[in-house]
Amino acid sequence: MTDTKKSVHGAWSSRLAFILAATGSAVGLGNIWKFPYITGENGGGAFVIVYLFCVLLIGIPIMIAETMLGRRSQRNPIEAMELLTEEAGADKNWHYLGWLGVIAGLLILSYYSVIAGWASAYIIKAFSGGFFGADAITINGIFNNFIASPAQLIFWHSLFMLATMLIVARGVQNGLEKAVLFLMPGLFVLMILLVAYAMTTGSYNQGLRFLFVPDFGKLTGDAVLTAMGHAFFTLSLGMGAIMVYGSYLPKKISIAKTAFLIAGADTAVALLAGIAIFPIVFANNLHPGSGPGLIFQTLPLAFGNMTGGWLMGILFFVMLVFAALTSSISLIEPAVAWLVENKDLSREQACVWSGLAAWALGLGTVFSFNVWSDVKFFDRSIFQLMDYLTANLMLPIGGFCIAVFAGWIMKRQHSEQELNMPNKAGYQAWKILISYVAPSAVFFVFLHVIGVL
Ligand code: TRP
Repeated sequence: MTDTKKSVHGAWSSRLAFILAATGSAVGLGNIWKFPYITGENGGGAFVIVYLFCVLLIGIPIMIAETMLGRRSQRNPIEAMELLTEEAGADKNWHYLGWLGVIAGLLILSYYSVIAGWASAYIIKAFSGGFFGADAITINGIFNNFIASPAQLIFWHSLFMLATMLIVARGVQNGLEKAVLFLMPGLFVLMILLVAYAMTTGSYNQGLRFLFVPDFGKLTGDAVLTAMGHAFFTLSLGMGAIMVYGSYLPKKISIAKTAFLIAGADTAVALLAGIAIFPIVFANNLHPGSGPGLIFQTLPLAFGNMTGGWLMGILFFVMLVFAALTSSISLIEPAVAWLVENKDLSREQACVWSGLAAWALGLGTVFSFNVWSDVKFFDRSIFQLMDYLTANLMLPIGGFCIAVFAGWIMKRQHSEQELNMPNKAGYQAWKILISYVAPSAVFFVFLHVIGVL
């Protein structure tokens, strides 16, 4: 497309680099921490099925659309939307979509960093041998004592945010590409070992049944919204993160194929986490719906009671923190890219300001687990409110707009050219999903939740 302004963008060195970075963004706390606990809270099987359908019919088409919009514009999300609307001859207001993304990213990062801080603290706890031979009550006590301490949570939250800022300040190529290469395979192997342990607990089948046998009677409207929101969250969609990554993607590469690969890997990690965790939950008479502490109350039991568990525990939490880092990078990147390209800040300055904003917001989440645990808005703690606002509302709304833009506003010839699919049927299928299926699915779920349907 014709550029009036020179892009200050870098570019990925290869298709692999993009896949690694996008997978790094997708695979994170969402898969290993959030998926199991929201599955537990929402009754298991039926929730999982809705989630899988959402990934397939909404997530993947929107991932293709978001990557496409990024690559076509070669810009940060706000400017990308400006340029693309100009190209399509559409209303200027579409660039607010870019804004929604920048804000959603910082809001998510605020609590993401707090939870990643928990995972960081658990590296030390694993190292010190505290899980050795421990029972469920001891493990529970360790967790409850930990989250009761604002000072500890703030310390680890700050450390994680600092790490995010430092990595992003070093720039796209250096910061992102390398970490994922050893991280993903490592995490995968550890998840499989944990599943092997789950098989020895005696409750393996009960765990599997909970995860995969649906009871649609238990499915509430809010559960459907949570499942849909999580499809966006886990694939990093709806706020421009993938748009930014797409903007660094060389023109020759097939967007659709890469999207399937990334979504496949992401879903596999989440399911493995569920398969590992629920048998441990049932074997120890724990409650599947015990909330955001679920992995911290279950996995240490595995590490404390299996051979080689000490080392595995350390490795697991180290890798979880790295997985969180490669995700948090993509949460802050839209804000940073925008500040650098528009406000003439250096990359370092942009990182400091965005990171500080998210850090300060994160204090609300920290306190919601202890001193402010009684503070409720609409029946939700600050952490729950942040999560609901972003994952259940902002991301689906962002995704809806992306779908409408890619399906209805952008000229067909442009999307066809950009996606460049070898077979016509593939493009046609995507076009139907993005124009009709994805937007109406989001729309009807919203209607259902506000009680209209
Ligand atoms: N997908 C990440 C996870 O599952 C979280 C994440 C990273 C994200 N970047 C995002 C979520 C952008 C929404 C939008 O842990």
